[in-house]
Amino acid sequence: MRIKSAKFIVSNQNVKDCPKSKLPEYAFIGRSNVGKSSLINMLANNKKLAKTSSKPGKTRLINHFIIDSTWHLVDLPGYGYAKASKTEKKEFQKLITEYFKERNQLVSAFILIDVRHEAQKIDIEFMRWLTTNNIAFSIVFTKIDKLKQDGNPNEGVEFKIKEYKKVILDNWEFLPEIFLTSSTKHIGKENIISYINNLNKSISSK
Ligand code: GTP
Ligand code: MG
Repeated sequence: MRIKSAKFIVSNQNVKDCPKSKLPEYAFIGRSNVGKSSLINMLANNKKLAKTSSKPGKTRLINHFIIDSTWHLVDLPGYGYAKASKTEKKEFQKLITEYFKERNQLVSAFILIDVRHEAQKIDIEFMRWLTTNNIAFSIVFTKIDKLKQDGNPNEGVEFKIKEYKKVILDNWEFLPEIFLTSSTKHIGKENIISYINNLNKSISSK
C-alpha cells in the first residue's frame, strides 16, 4: 500500500482559513523535532514535501496536504519547544486548540513520540486533552533506528514501548493504536497508510 500523489495545498496561521473541503483529515502532532515532517515525507515518498530541520521549531503553521485526491494530511507545529517565547507558546496553544476543536473533518490525530525518551508530561497531558475533547488519536513512535536492537535489553525498542504502554494504561483503560517508525530507514509506512485507508473506507461506507 503506497501513496500515489501528495501535494501541498496551503499553510495557515488561523484555522478559519483552512481548506473548506470535507475530505477526511488526519493531523500529525508532537514535540518539536520529534520527526513529524520527516514522517510525512516518508509516508508520501517525497523528501521535499514537508520542510525538515535539525533545529526545532521549523513548522510554525497549519500545513495542509492532499493525498491521492481523497484525504488531507496536516502537519502541525511542534509543542514544547523550549526556546519559544511565552507569547509564541500561547499563540501555538491557541492555534492547536482551535484546530482540534473546529476541524470537524478531522478523523484522527497521530501523536508522535521519540522512542528514545521516557513518557513526557506534556505528551500525556495533550493526550488527556484530546480524550476530554473526544478526539481520536493513535501513537507513532519515531526514530526507532536510533535504538540498538542487540544491546542492553533495557534500552531496546521493545523495552521502551513496554514501559510507555504501562504509563498509558495508568491513565486509560485501553491502549490506542501504536505504530513504530523510522523515517531514515523507511520503517512503518505501510501500517500507517493502510490504517488511514481503512478508516477512510469505513467513513465512505457509512
Ligand atoms: P519541527 O517542525 O521543528 O517541530 O520538527 P519536526 O517534528 O517536523 O521534525 P523533523 O522532521 O524536521 O526532524 C527533526 C530532526 O530529526 C531532523 O534532523 C531529522 O533528520 C531527524 N529525524 C527525523 N526522523 C528521523 C528518524 O526516523 N530517524 C533518525 N535517525 N532521524 C530522524
Ligand atoms: Mg516540522
